Parts: sequence; C-alpha cells; structure tokens
Amino acid sequence: MKKINIAIDGYSACGKSSTAKMIANRLQYKYIDSGAMYRAVTLYFIDNYVDLTNEKKVDKALKNIQIDFRFNSKKEKSETYLNGLNVEEDIRTMRVTNMVSEVSALPEVRKVLVDLQQKLGKKKGVVMDGRDIGSIVLPDAELKVFMTADMKVRALRRQQELLEKDQLVDLNDIIDNLAKRDRIDTTRKVGPLTKVDEAVEIDTTHMTLEEQVEEILNEATSRMVDN
Ligand code: DC
Repeated sequence: MKKINIAIDGYSACGKSSTAKMIANRLQYKYIDSGAMYRAVTLYFIDNYVDLTNEKKVDKALKNIQIDFRFNSKKEKSETYLNGLNVEEDIRTMRVTNMVSEVSALPEVRKVLVDLQQKLGKKKGVVMDGRDIGSIVLPDAELKVFMTADMKVRALRRQQELLEKDQLVDLNDIIDNLAKRDRIDTTRKVGPLTKVDEAVEIDTTHMTLEEQVEEILNEATSRMVDN
C-alpha cells in the first residue's frame, strides 16, 4: 500500500480536526492543523498590537514568528508552539477566534503559512485540515474531503468543546462568530474556502465522529492501492 496525502477542508466547527486527528492516528500518518498556524499568527498580532492595515508592519511581524508542532507524550497529542512557547490553549480562546478570519484574509500571512504547510506536506503520509488544503496547499493530494454541517449543530459542537475547557459561551455568540467566519473565509481574495470538483463531500450533521472517520478511511484505502 502506498502512502497518500489527505486534504480535509470545510467550514469551521464541522468536525474537521477531530476527524483528521483520528484518521492520522489510525493510519499512523502525520496530522497537521493548518488552522492552528493562522491562530498562532493571530495571537502574536494581538499581543504585539500589530496594525493589520499596515502591510509593512505585518511583513515585519511575520519575520519574527516561528511556529512548530511538538508531540506531548503525556497528553498524547501534538501541540502548537509560537516562538518556542506552548500556545495550544491560548490559540483556542475567543479573543483569538474572533480575530482569526481577518488575519487569515491577509495575503502576506497566507503566503508565509502556505509555504510552511507545503514543506510539511512534501513527504506523503500527511492528513492536513483547513480551508484551502485541497485547492492551494496540497493540490496533488490523493484524497480531498470537503466537510459541511448544519449551523445549529456546528454551534452546539463548538459550545460543547469550549465547555470542556471551562469556557461558557452563549450559543448565539457562537453562531454569530461562525457566520462571520464563514463569510470572510469564503469571500476573501486569496485562498478562499472552496470545494474543488474532485473532493468527496461529507455532511456531518447526522454523523458520529466514528462514522465520519470510517467513511474517510474507506475512501483513503481505495486510493492507497498501487495501479
Ligand atoms: O480550523 P480553525 O477553525 O481552527 O481555523 C481558524 C481560522 O483560520 C479560520 O477561521 C480560517 C483560517 N484558516 C484559513 O484561512 N486557512 C486554513 N487553511 C486554515 C484555517
């Protein structure tokens, strides 16, 4: 069986990252969370008061940012590091979530992160999730998946995730944030969220995580046979 790359794109809170992580685990592939990189850049921009409207300042700030993922063997998961500091929790807070779509719409930010993501995906055996993975980052991925789900279900899932981290957020605030991010993510000029023709579309509204994983694994296995 040959190793393949799997690109998983879709709207926020459709279950992309949980599904992608489980698939990588089952196949013993590397999981790369491209959204975490946009979140880490956003955290840096917020903490350093970077003016998003000033291209020169954005470029300068990007030169000071180093992002990497390190495996935490106690928690058995990979965690995001920004300039050597573990920011895995900070990047999931609402202050970052509320700003991340604006930051990720900046062409300079996308250029730097797409380059980095392409380097990480050079060797086959990668599961990467995001918005432009099948279209821009890994256009040669053997399997491309596009995930969708009903807005209410997405918001409830996100609320539950936040609750598990002791963050209580009103459902309407989550719906507003998701709707705003959908709008910015799908309409930005560079790397907008799009479903490429060859992507397999999966609507997860009525699916369990295990069902999503099984469906994608079936698609993946059929692409691993040499022909
Ligand atoms: O997957 P996520 O919700 O953690 O992603 C956070 C934000 O980052 C999302 O609103 C859009 C942006 N993003 C992007 O523009 N391109 C990607 N490949 C991944 C994420």
